[in-house]
Amino acid sequence: MTGMLEPTPPAPALALPGDLQTRLLGRVTVEYHQEVASTNTRARELALAGAPEGTLVWAESQSGGRGRLGRPWHSPPGAGLYFSLILDPWPKENPSFLTLAAGLSVAEAINQMTSLQPGIKWPNDLLIQDKKIAGILAELDSGGLPPRFVVLGVGVNVNLQPTDIPDEIRDTAGSLLAATGKTWDRSALLGIILEKIEGNYLGLKAGRHNDILQRYRRNSITIGARVRVRQGHVVLEGQVRDVDHRGRLLLESTSGGSLMAVEAGEVSLVRPVF
Ligand code: BTN
Repeated sequence: MTGMLEPTPPAPALALPGDLQTRLLGRVTVEYHQEVASTNTRARELALAGAPEGTLVWAESQSGGRGRLGRPWHSPPGAGLYFSLILDPWPKENPSFLTLAAGLSVAEAINQMTSLQPGIKWPNDLLIQDKKIAGILAELDSGGLPPRFVVLGVGVNVNLQPTDIPDEIRDTAGSLLAATGKTWDRSALLGIILEKIEGNYLGLKAGRHNDILQRYRRNSITIGARVRVRQGHVVLEGQVRDVDHRGRLLLESTSGGSLMAVEAGEVSLVRPVF
């Protein structure tokens, strides 16, 4: 004891809400970074070192945030939510369904907080007024079968100004601020998202798969739409009839009328030209 006061560490600009209602997510291991390359990469390191289910890694900003299909995820400080969770791969025979449940959870959380109604573009892009405001990157343990964990990464453009969004995606990316003209409390939103993900994740584990699929269908902007699905060099085109119990897109091909179950790909909606 020197009598000198220890310097107080700077308070995180972002904090978990004191009234967080989860019992698993963010309860045992929580790691906060002012800046990290990618919360998904860090969560994977922790999972490989034995961190438990429910571990939360979140950051004020990311220097190498990653999106689906190898794209970057722009992650400026003070404006977005960037976090990753370590979860059990579930359902065991089809863990990719979990990513649909996660997209639904984020849509429901945004709706609860802002009254906006984000549409889900399959599999889990959230759009408001045709602009993407949130995305999910799920990465499965690649160390062997069965996979031991999944890292579920969530990025939400909360208070990004249009000028915070890089030119090359400004036409397609938006934010809650841009959609409403208001700034939103990121900590409160983080809390609601964690509660919704936990509810749906535990719901899946308890066998309430059909209920989640029904709610996913209600929020989908892909079901019923005419779409193009890019799978590398292959492009499929047709009308989406449904999303099945495995989370696959059921596409009625424009050319042949046959129904295909699509597991992966980049969907774009084809608008009718009048
Ligand atoms: C997408 O392309 O739609 C997925 C975007 C996922 C971004 C989040 S931000 C937190 C986590 N860490 C990452 O590097 N990516 C995910």
